[in-house]
Amino acid sequence: MRSRSNSDQLFKRAASVIPGGTYGHLSPASSLPRHFAHFCSSGKGVYFHDVDQNEWMDFMCAYGAVIHGYQNPIIESAIEKQRSVGTVFNHPHEVSIELAEKLTQLVDFASWSVFAKNGSDLTTWSIRVAREHTKRTFVVKARGAYHGVDAWCDPGMGGRIESDRADILEFEWNDLEQLEGIFKARKDQIAAVILTPYHHAAFAPSVMPEEGFWAGVRNLCHKNGTILVLDDVRAGWRLHEKGSHKYFGFSPDMTVYSKALGNGYAISACVGIPELKNAASEVFLTGSCWSDAVAMRAALTSLEICEKDSVASLVLDKGKYFCSGLENLALEFNFKLRMTGPTSMPYPWFDGDDNLYRIQNFCQIASKYGLFFHPHHNWFISNAHDQVSLDKALALARSSFEEMQNEL
Ligand SMILES: Cc1ncc(COP(=O)(O)O)c(C=O)c1O
Repeated sequence: MRSRSNSDQLFKRAASVIPGGTYGHLSPASSLPRHFAHFCSSGKGVYFHDVDQNEWMDFMCAYGAVIHGYQNPIIESAIEKQRSVGTVFNHPHEVSIELAEKLTQLVDFASWSVFAKNGSDLTTWSIRVAREHTKRTFVVKARGAYHGVDAWCDPGMGGRIESDRADILEFEWNDLEQLEGIFKARKDQIAAVILTPYHHAAFAPSVMPEEGFWAGVRNLCHKNGTILVLDDVRAGWRLHEKGSHKYFGFSPDMTVYSKALGNGYAISACVGIPELKNAASEVFLTGSCWSDAVAMRAALTSLEICEKDSVASLVLDKGKYFCSGLENLALEFNFKLRMTGPTSMPYPWFDGDDNLYRIQNFCQIASKYGLFFHPHHNWFISNAHDQVSLDKALALARSSFEEMQNEL
């Protein structure tokens, strides 16, 4: 295990003033085993340092929030300029309009955009917009899908009451018959169907939409007067420069973005079709720092780079190289590894590893070589990953597979 005395010390300090020390997906208890550090100190490009001065080559990119690498110089310089004139004021800054214009130009079905800070802010708000527009109650989601921290969809149990989920219906991803059954049982009562572009549950391989799935969902929503919300918080800008619906060839009514949108600056956006603009203006929406001009400048600059450099295609290609390299290496050592889901955000799965031991073991060994491979969450490729870093990662992965085989 790498040195971790500062990390442990900070964790103890944190635990005395922060419930759980670190919480949610960053908690060692819920998903990040103890061989990882608990606190970071700095990051640049594809590398970050923990508080014990260990360097890590990163394959999580702040859980997807970073797509151009840590401290991308173009984005940092744009935000420094913005910061020098201020960030949050009594009124929005002009950059909010520029960003809304950019999003509505990029996303083909969208004629408006609103902004907040986190994905959860706007997945929840989008449901309310759908309810306002349709004057209906029920919302359908895929079983096991994550849409944020609010009680209607969060994965935890604490503090939840039965009524929080009374109006939420679930179906198995890819099961159009089940979805159709829900529509039949709740005729004229379903306000929205909210789905991610593909199914990326934690602790399980990712599942891509089957042929005809999206067309079927779109058609059912259409026929039933239901709003189709795409939760592109995690996948957004890593599959297609104009939104993940383009990658899968369908058209939602609203999409929520966050994560990669601001390259690490806190921002989310919801875009929608013209027919929903009235409802969107009726549903109350605000937050103390939501008009943050610095985060908006970061998002605008990030989108400009994504478009100019076709970053989604680049990260998909880089991911393809990396994923097939990793799968081939695994085979050399007689392990059957599948990198599931899109190559720009692959979820690693060893065949037969139902108790998750193998993947934990592999990621633990890889951590000794400075690779930040998460055992239970999809990984992320950023555009800062280049041939040199990917080849280095593959060489270190080879040593990790070798060590894992020797341990058997
Ligand atoms: C698909 C999806 N939706 C919504 C969210 C919630 O976003 P946030 O954590 O920014 O509130 C996440 C976060 O991981 C997510 O992956």
